[in-house]
Amino acid sequence: MPHTRPMRADELDLFVEASSESRHPREIKQYIESMFAAGSMRPEWCFVIEGEDRPIGRVALWTLPGMSEPLDLVLLDLRWEEPDHPTTGTRLLRRVLEEARDLGAREVGYVLDAPPMWPQWQYYPKERAGMLVRAGFIVERETIRFEWRSGNAPPSVPERLVFRSLEEVGKAAFVDAVVRVSEDTLDREIRNEREERGPEKAGREFFEMESKLEHDPSWWRLAYTPEGDLVGLIMASKNPTSPVIGYIGVVPEHRGRGYADDLLATGTDILRSAGAEQVRADTDIHNAPMALAFRRAGYTEFATRREYGVDLPSNEGRPVTGSA
Ligand SMILES: CC(C)(COP(=O)(O)OP(=O)(O)OC[C@H]1O[C@@H](n2cnc3c(N)ncnc32)[C@H](O)[C@@H]1OP(=O)(O)O)[C@@H](O)C(=O)NCCC(=O)NCCS
Repeated sequence: MPHTRPMRADELDLFVEASSESRHPREIKQYIESMFAAGSMRPEWCFVIEGEDRPIGRVALWTLPGMSEPLDLVLLDLRWEEPDHPTTGTRLLRRVLEEARDLGAREVGYVLDAPPMWPQWQYYPKERAGMLVRAGFIVERETIRFEWRSGNAPPSVPERLVFRSLEEVGKAAFVDAVVRVSEDTLDREIRNEREERGPEKAGREFFEMESKLEHDPSWWRLAYTPEGDLVGLIMASKNPTSPVIGYIGVVPEHRGRGYADDLLATGTDILRSAGAEQVRADTDIHNAPMALAFRRAGYTEFATRREYGVDLPSNEGRPVTGSA
């Protein structure tokens, strides 16, 4: 019977090759090593499932640097062409989700990007989606992924707003601005969090989560009119793989005046000045004003992403992934 176990520290090659996706072993290995170095992955968080005579699948737990509990599954792969891959996948996910729960996770995510690309090369999207749904995952958000590259002209920074950094305004004012700009958002995940937890708690938790991303406090700014009216905010950061526009928002009373462009140009400029040669950003497929702002600023769409999530109930002894 197939057996799931964490890899040993010297088994990285075995982990990399434990699936039918063997086209990019060098890049996958480099990615894993960079995640180990960043503190987003650990050898004991990399799992293989072994059949009678060889590994038949793998998956790893991933988190943001500095966090002790896992947030996401990455590098999930099976021998997809083999007919019993659904059973293998269910078995693997069940064990690894239990492991994540024991490590303190209350929910775990998985992002499915199309087309297949570095660093996960997610071929067999239908089979993956089926496997996730069988394990109890639901789609929480679908996004368009945008990227600006240094070859593209950077958006010019208009001068109608006055910016003040997180250091200048303090955390309480910044969190309050997050709450205000998130009102009536077209982003499904932020809207759901506001409904479930209430706007203030959702805003605070959003701020804390974004704080885990590498950033200089001067990269997070509130924007005001010259008269001192709050217009919005920009949060520019670096995640473990790329500089990112973490969040942009305009307070409801100032929407429809193109301020998203000013904020995005400022965020892109902040990251460029810090040496970024590319900047990435995701926006909900329903957030048309935001997607238009990215396109106007010279960002190009490079992928679509489906964000899956599963809750991990904490009650002892309860299977988290249903029956095999
Ligand atoms: C997305 C956002 C930054 C756009 O800012 P903006 O400066 O209003 O953008 P624009 O001025 O280009 O607006 C374009 C149009 O979209 C409309 N629009 C903007 N936000 C809207 C919203 N949340 N709901 C409905 N319509 C909206 C504007 O009224 C405007 O309509 P008009 O052309 O008929 O006047 C702003 O809506 C916002 O802060 N939303 C909440 C936070 C958010 O979703 N951030 C992005 C997460 S990645």
